[in-house]
Amino acid sequence: MTKILITGAGGQLGSELTDALVSKYGSDAVIASDINEQARSLFPGAIFETLDVTDHLAMKALLEKHQISQIYHLAAILSATAEKKPLLAWQINMDSLLSILELAREKKLEKVYWPSSIAVFGPNSPRTHTPQNCIQEPQTAYGISKQAGERWCNYYFQKYGVDVRSLRYPGLIGYKSLPGGGTTDYAVDIYHHAVRKTPFTCFLKEDTALPMMYMPDAIRATMELMDAPKERIKIRSSYNISSLSFTPKEIFRSILMHNPKFEITYCPDFRQEIADGWPQSIDDSDAVADWGWKPAYDLPRMTQDMLANLTLK
Ligand code: SER
Repeated sequence: MTKILITGAGGQLGSELTDALVSKYGSDAVIASDINEQARSLFPGAIFETLDVTDHLAMKALLEKHQISQIYHLAAILSATAEKKPLLAWQINMDSLLSILELAREKKLEKVYWPSSIAVFGPNSPRTHTPQNCIQEPQTAYGISKQAGERWCNYYFQKYGVDVRSLRYPGLIGYKSLPGGGTTDYAVDIYHHAVRKTPFTCFLKEDTALPMMYMPDAIRATMELMDAPKERIKIRSSYNISSLSFTPKEIFRSILMHNPKFEITYCPDFRQEIADGWPQSIDDSDAVADWGWKPAYDLPRMTQDMLANLTLK
């Protein structure tokens, strides 16, 4: 029987992926975990466990207690926080992944999911339509941890046959929960300001293009990757995946169509440098060819949906 453990379930991605997995497999089959006990309230009726992912023995005990067969390992420190706390970022992003890959090998888990990021690329990578394989050379602590994590995923697949699958997410945008400590967070925050009718100060310059994705697309991509037959998954580091690419000015203009009085000012901070080292758009032809990836949302459709849902909230 499928039994899924989600780490970092209280986070931006986790809170939505947990709901999607509960809908697919049922509430008895999904164990949501987070280091933050307050995340429990996000999942009424679901099984919740407090878990520090850097505690190998606690994780092992949890796998045994619930007879876990699949792990979605989402707990991580994002890019902006990682620049301020690089050692903590390495410990949380890397030690916990190794711990999970080891447990997956030892316990012969069916599947593992682990998110990578566009942050694996750096200033020497092609900036537009960044290919799956090219010079990476990430210059952020977060990017270094994701790049190394990808190598470990590939290693555990090649050497031990651990069925680990991964996506290089772009910036994720959703209305159900807030991101924390990322460089792409502005693209969520801007909608909250638009709905509250307060002016928005953007921490990136107006012409900074970054790859982005609306949460329903990100959840569907994750489920489709995890559901694909094993032989279709040809990349065991992490797949490039693409949907939208826009600048702060472009997202602002898409909001103006709904809220003509909305105001923005630009006040770039240290996150500008992070964004300047990342791709502007991504070539995801391997994901398209291997398991049929196709995004559904464009910027106008996402803006309309974000504003409608945040207004309801
Ligand atoms: N959205 C992430 C960040 O900004 C990138 O993976 O850190």
